[in-house]
Amino acid sequence: MKEKIIINEVGLRDGLQNQPQHVTTEDKVRMAELLVGAGVRWLEPVSFVSPKAVPQMADAAQLTRQLPQGDGLHYTALVPNLRGYQLARDNGYRTVALVLSTTDSFNQRNLNMTLAQAIDSCRSIIQAAGADGIATRTYISGAFSCPYDGLTPVDVTLDLSRQMIDAGSEEIAIADTIGAGNPQQMKDIMAPLIQQYGAERFFVHLHDTRGLATAMAWAACDLGVRKFDASVGGLGGCPFAPGATGNVATEDLVYLFEAAGLDTGIDIQALREVIKLAARATGRELGGRIIHWIQSQEARGRPCDLV
Ligand code: COA
Ligand code: ZN
Repeated sequence: MKEKIIINEVGLRDGLQNQPQHVTTEDKVRMAELLVGAGVRWLEPVSFVSPKAVPQMADAAQLTRQLPQGDGLHYTALVPNLRGYQLARDNGYRTVALVLSTTDSFNQRNLNMTLAQAIDSCRSIIQAAGADGIATRTYISGAFSCPYDGLTPVDVTLDLSRQMIDAGSEEIAIADTIGAGNPQQMKDIMAPLIQQYGAERFFVHLHDTRGLATAMAWAACDLGVRKFDASVGGLGGCPFAPGATGNVATEDLVYLFEAAGLDTGIDIQALREVIKLAARATGRELGGRIIHWIQSQEARGRPCDLV
């Protein structure tokens, strides 16, 4: 039996939140259906945030009601504050994603809070969720680098992760929100956390701004991490993190892990339909490196031997 890798599809949330072209609920529902059809089982389809701050997420409740349902599907909603948490809970989410950035500047731009206020806010949400029987995954955003203050010291990321674990957060996601990290930093952060808490608790969230995302994913996998966020077609870019490009493409992570003999359960060829739809809906060219390779093979009439 091959060892399993969880790829959590965040394209509908992280991927779409910054798109200038409005994406309809109907297109989002179709994307979710095609993703599930391709084997995706973990998805973050929405955030419950101020519709003024992020207009693309204004249909979060409506979209939630139309998502595919079934055993083995795991949905999360991102929540920026207690109000967002309550909305996610009332809309049926059993796991919520919290965001804690590593600096005052980033928390200020993203949440209109200082770092200390954001820590308190996360603690309150974790406590409320615990009482409601809802699980929390806390994203340490800017874990490698902050878009405003530059390189993040490893100790800052470790300290915030530990604080959130101590507060009761079941899962921690180490997030390279702007795609400025490297594999050595990944080891420096993940090794002590895994040694202390085990690998089970951790997700890794990457953006491919400088082309090192798959190398970083592999470094994390080598240390035992088995849960990764990604966006189909490499959609993405955070509205509050200038210069950040898309998430690592789902298909590139699928190729990486399948080529290494691990099981993602996701079919790259089936993802191509979602990528086409997402490209049409956003008016952008999309597709990870592996899609370009498949297309060039097809153009030359050569086989695509995708493991
Ligand atoms: N969901 C929906 N609306 C919300 C909300 C939530 N979770 N939290 C606040 N609001 C609304 C308030 O009702 C208020 O609306 P009004 O202007 O119509 O009265 C408005 O947003 C401002 O509320 P306030 O509590 O003063 O928040 P703020 O101005 O300090 O903004 C955030 C803070 C977090 C709500 C806002 O900046 C936000 O939603 N940011 C999005 C962050 C994000 O998505 N980042 C990317 C993912 S990492
Ligand atoms: Zn992101």
